Amino acid sequence: MGRLEGKVALITAAGRGHGEAIARRFAKEGAAVAICDIIPVAVLEETVGEQIRAEGAQVLCFQTDVSQEEPVKQMVQQTLDQFGTIDILANVVGIAGPTKDVWDMSLTEWQETLAVNLDSVFLGCKYVLPEMIRKQYGRVINFSSGTGKQPLSHRAPYAASKMAVIGFTRTLAADVGRYNITVNAICPGGHEERSLELARGRADYLGEPFDEEAFRSRFRATPEKSVIAGRWCADEGYTQKGAGPEDAAAIALFLASDEAGNMTGQDINSGGGVMW
Ligand SMILES: NC(=O)c1ccc[n+]([C@@H]2O[C@H](COP(=O)([O-])OP(=O)(O)OC[C@H]3O[C@@H](n4cnc5c(N)ncnc54)[C@H](O)[C@@H]3O)[C@@H](O)[C@H]2O)c1
Repeated sequence: MGRLEGKVALITAAGRGHGEAIARRFAKEGAAVAICDIIPVAVLEETVGEQIRAEGAQVLCFQTDVSQEEPVKQMVQQTLDQFGTIDILANVVGIAGPTKDVWDMSLTEWQETLAVNLDSVFLGCKYVLPEMIRKQYGRVINFSSGTGKQPLSHRAPYAASKMAVIGFTRTLAADVGRYNITVNAICPGGHEERSLELARGRADYLGEPFDEEAFRSRFRATPEKSVIAGRWCADEGYTQKGAGPEDAAAIALFLASDEAGNMTGQDINSGGGVMW
């Protein structure tokens, strides 16, 4: 019997990356999964939904911009109509936002990052929590980041949104603990492709040359990767394995399980040794 047998999970940003890994992992453990992404629903169906269904799980796919209230409200209602309940909410969505100094960025760039990374978490919780409170059971898993805990220069909106997710998570945990609902955050670490994208963007912004091969080999080889990525403290990534969606999905599975019922308000790093 799977660890999530009989449970219903709603997972945002499941078109790729961490959201996809969590959807596949939860489904493998017996959960019925409602998944969404901003990409066309036919693409989400084909690349993720149909494959999970073929392995025997129930799947609902939605095209939802999770920074917008009405689409989130409708997605939650349709999931409740189809699956009868929601036990687990994984607010995975997150965009990188601009790599610029604050005085160079527009208010629109700032607001877009906050809307996708933070409003989405608020909206998911706002519409799912009444059902969890009704049934006196729930698991909420929000995605934060190592960035913010540890500054990554020129990336203030992303860092602000991710630290806000931690403050939101702790406060909500205090608010809903009495209803047998846990709320935790996962902070993924540097994924090679994402870090490469960011380091290139940073070099472009600063007008500096960027050597992809040097970045990749140093990223894999030593903690100096942090310096190259623009992170001025190299003391992380002790396992020297990098960090990927599977690492975070394993933690998400534990947080979603019944065994994690007394763990709440935590922000857990899956980055191989971030200690903040
Ligand atoms: N990958 C990393 O190295 C890393 C590191 C730290 C934190 N994180 C966080 O982990 C989470 C997952 O990151 P990832 O790298 O797997 O993401 P990703 O970029 O691989 O995938 C993000 C998905 O979100 C979807 N999306 C974007 N905007 C959306 C919107 N408004 N509504 C619905 N879907 C939308 C995209 O289409 C995409 O499928 C994010 O919150 C991210 O900030 C990632």
